[in-house]
Amino acid sequence: MRFDVVTLFPGMFQGPLDDGILARARAAGRLGVRVHDLRRFGVGPHRQVDDAPFGGGPGMVLKPEPFFDAVEWIRGTYPETRERVVLLSPQGVPLDHDRAVALSGYDRLILLCGRYEGLDERVREGLVDEEIAVGEAVVSGGELPAMMLIDAVARHVEGVLGNQESAESESFACGLLDHPCYTRPAAYRDREVPPVLLSGDHGAIARWREEARVRATREKRPELLNRSKSTSAHIERHRGTS
Ligand SMILES: C[S@@+](CC[C@H](N)C(=O)[O-])C[C@H]1O[C@@H](n2cnc3c(N)ncnc32)[C@H](O)[C@@H]1O
Repeated sequence: MRFDVVTLFPGMFQGPLDDGILARARAAGRLGVRVHDLRRFGVGPHRQVDDAPFGGGPGMVLKPEPFFDAVEWIRGTYPETRERVVLLSPQGVPLDHDRAVALSGYDRLILLCGRYEGLDERVREGLVDEEIAVGEAVVSGGELPAMMLIDAVARHVEGVLGNQESAESESFACGLLDHPCYTRPAAYRDREVPPVLLSGDHGAIARWREEARVRATREKRPELLNRSKSTSAHIERHRGTS
């Protein structure tokens, strides 16, 4: 799978994508990430990318031409079949598990990062397939949201995670939060690991973990409990366990 990112600050992507799971997946050819400098597609001799808002008001607005030119250049240089153009935007739908899984099914995502007051509306109308937000708070640019999206989506691309099981049991994957984890030492500062986890009884451990997932969800994100069929199945199995 490929990600093509269009940004005014390409340097921000150096580092976060160069370590850990993402770096390994890129080295193994499972993921391709190309970062395109919006300035390269700027207008005129000064490569202008922004201008004052029509109608007045504070700040600057990113011009439409550089985004259209960048996307057309990307398409011309690296044709792909199944593609989605995503605008990172606080006005978008929230990035959640289902969106990440759905987006991992495309061959390429073109990610458009806004800055300043945002982008000229004609970019959204004429280029964008979907708008995605990473939370109900405004950050200064689309770069950090784009990096979060790349990471969240990449985890669902085949061969990216060493152990696919971990993606399937993680929070949100079946509508529940993950169970608590422990490692050595078994006792630390007067707190002990639940004895069942040291018992070697895999059936009992699996049951404890399922119960712990329902409990964690009920305590931290109760609104998730009614959302999915698999959640209902879990609750049914563990009715009365809390
Ligand atoms: C300062 S914001 C502009 C916010 C815009 N004026 C508004 O209120 O909707 C600049 C850029 O940061 C990105 N951005 C900010 N918050 C975001 C969020 N929560 N999720 C995704 N992108 C975000 C978008 O690309 C946006 O165009």
